Amino acid sequence: MADVTDVTDVTDDYLALNRASWDDRAAAHANSSGYDVGRLVSGQRQVSGVVAFDRPRLGDLTGLDVVHLQCHIGTDTLSLARLGAAHVTGVDLSPKSLEQARAVSRRAGIAMELVESDVYAAPAALGGRTFDLVYTGIGALCWLPSVTRWAEVVDALLRPGGRLFIREGHPMLWSLDETHEGQVVVGFPYFEQADGMVWSDSGTYVETDQEFTANTTVEWNHGLGEIVTALLDRGLVLTSLVEHDSVPWCALPGQMTEDSGGEWRLTEHPERLAASYTLTADKPAVRAAGGAATVR
Ligand SMILES: C[S@@+](CC[C@H](N)C(=O)[O-])C[C@H]1O[C@@H](n2cnc3c(N)ncnc32)[C@H](O)[C@@H]1O
Repeated sequence: MADVTDVTDVTDDYLALNRASWDDRAAAHANSSGYDVGRLVSGQRQVSGVVAFDRPRLGDLTGLDVVHLQCHIGTDTLSLARLGAAHVTGVDLSPKSLEQARAVSRRAGIAMELVESDVYAAPAALGGRTFDLVYTGIGALCWLPSVTRWAEVVDALLRPGGRLFIREGHPMLWSLDETHEGQVVVGFPYFEQADGMVWSDSGTYVETDQEFTANTTVEWNHGLGEIVTALLDRGLVLTSLVEHDSVPWCALPGQMTEDSGGEWRLTEHPERLAASYTLTADKPAVRAAGGAATVR
């Protein structure tokens, strides 16, 4: 990212701005070596790098009905189907991303239901259906103003006994200002703020020659405690929270090194930065009388 602008009145237009930016970048992402769609759809790679990393913590997906929030071009959604999910549904705000996801589904010969919706409208867009697994992350929560509303959506989409899986960029990482070469500098809010951060960035996180025109985005950070508390307040039961020293993109250019699995960590002192986390939470099978679910 570059050029944070302190213009808070565009926050109201955040959905339109963010949709335009993702629409503009979807084809470049689908054609990039980073997403490596060709090898994925041909089966030379069974799963995306993101889902390969998730695998030890994902649990058994066999026969599950899965919803993937903010599925982008569907590479991780496809991977969940390849790991045995019976039905996968991807939800995304960006129609151009979903166009690419449809092509991924068709080329791989694996059915994926793809629904265009804002996350906050997903329960209605999905007709009130519920799922065994809500899967999301890797650049997802930062597009949402309120993590409390996000947790409400997760709760609404889960069946009793269902589970949430999220691996996400760590809020500590999102608070860093990448423009300070050779230094790790906290430049932006760690805690959720009412006003979004408005960015202007003509690039993207994959290597591409394509030029983009929709370059203004609005983003938010959410502290780890805020995320956990929002889920606990919905009665979900936290089953794991693991912090990692790596992320699957170069988040601090010039300061990170990629490993053979496509994970990037600080070149110097990787032990100093929690770069991402994985959180799992269960929706109890039985709700306690009077509200919050605490009984399994
Ligand atoms: C970095 S991608 C995350 C997906 C996945 N980790 C990947 O890399 O393929 C972010 C996605 O969130 C979507 N998005 C942003 N804001 C959204 C919103 N309010 N509701 C639904 N999707 C949204 C974008 O369209 C984009 O496809």
